[in-house]
Amino acid sequence: MPLPRLFRRVQRQVKGVVKQAIINHHRKSGAVLFSDTTLRDGEQMPGATLEPEDKLRIALALEEAGVHSLDAGFAASSPSEIEAIRQMVGKVKKPVLTSLCRTVKSDVDAAYEALAGNPSHKRGVSLFVGTSPLHRQYKLQKSEAEILSIITDTIHYAAEKFDIVAFSPEDASRTELSYLTEVYREAIDAGATTIGFPDTVGILTPEKARHFIRHIQDNVPNIGKVLLAVHYHNDLGLAVANTLASIDEGANVVQCTINGIGERAGNACLEEVAMALALHQDQYGREAKIDTTKLYALSHLVSELTGIRMAPNKPIGGRTIFATEAGIHQDGLLKNIDTYLPFRPEMVGAPGVELVLGRHSGRRAVAHRLEQLNLNCTDEQVQLVLDGIKHVPKGTIIDDGLLRQLAGTNGRSSGKP
Ligand code: KIV
Ligand code: ZN
Repeated sequence: MPLPRLFRRVQRQVKGVVKQAIINHHRKSGAVLFSDTTLRDGEQMPGATLEPEDKLRIALALEEAGVHSLDAGFAASSPSEIEAIRQMVGKVKKPVLTSLCRTVKSDVDAAYEALAGNPSHKRGVSLFVGTSPLHRQYKLQKSEAEILSIITDTIHYAAEKFDIVAFSPEDASRTELSYLTEVYREAIDAGATTIGFPDTVGILTPEKARHFIRHIQDNVPNIGKVLLAVHYHNDLGLAVANTLASIDEGANVVQCTINGIGERAGNACLEEVAMALALHQDQYGREAKIDTTKLYALSHLVSELTGIRMAPNKPIGGRTIFATEAGIHQDGLLKNIDTYLPFRPEMVGAPGVELVLGRHSGRRAVAHRLEQLNLNCTDEQVQLVLDGIKHVPKGTIIDDGLLRQLAGTNGRSSGKP
């Protein structure tokens, strides 16, 4: 054999051994790898359009939080996607950057161009094609065999250019198990390094999600060669629960978005999955290399840059999640902050607990706030304030000025520091 050909063959074999060693390492470590898709599936949410510089800011914040990979965009979809991905190349260093691709060679070429310059172990493609009967019949108008051949052809092509090749059968959760298993087996043989399980329309329950993942683990004979990624949409409000159930069944990678933004009802929310894992180590026993103290800021950054407002009670980042107006809760929190909290605000980098004074507040919280204001109030004055705030008209903002007024202190403080 001519020397250059022999050299290329040896080089390919060495690459293959290294790739497999990395996959084995991740599988053995048991770590849950977070693959963030805020910049791709998240941005698909109507109104969530991000400029390339916004995407870079979010990507850098995700890197700081410890995500393993970033679905950086869909290079073939527009020049601005390519530009956004190119801006990340060389600046976002730790996570693997991937570009979404249809099973079309020109999409792989666009991804290659967009990601050029990133080291080969830090760039990849994420290929997808519909496999469910609905997609086969109506969207693609192709037979099972035709789709299988498109999948293997494109994976072969992608594997020539990329060391990291993820493949997801779109609408997997509505694909027949036997066909799904065959698709995965062939995709792995063709060179996929990750196989994805997308619940594209967010239809599954945790029990059914668990069943799918178990079935894949038990029936795809070459599953040990790849990482298994899961991708849940939130149409039934179950994306986080389904993700956790899949982790319990051994999924290696979880695809999530910040604030759960995404197509229709959105995707599994990264910060909620990460916190569930952090708080229930005893149950999952899987390390998630996410720095939870960065989550609150990330949540606010994404909300600010996408313009998608968070519900006030949104877990982790919402305005009211560390605030309470209820007297019994306020009393408990003042005695011991853990009485009415699942975790401390600092664990997610949030500012702290807020005792809101209002109609539901109790004596203790009122006295506490008056003390903080340095007003040396008698029991009668505290009672006056409490009675006062219970009768203010709806919508009145109970600020410190109003408290002073109700206490009849006319702005005088006790003089204590
Ligand atoms: O939900 C989905 O099926 C997707 C694919 C592109 C993987 O986002
Ligand atoms: Zn999706």
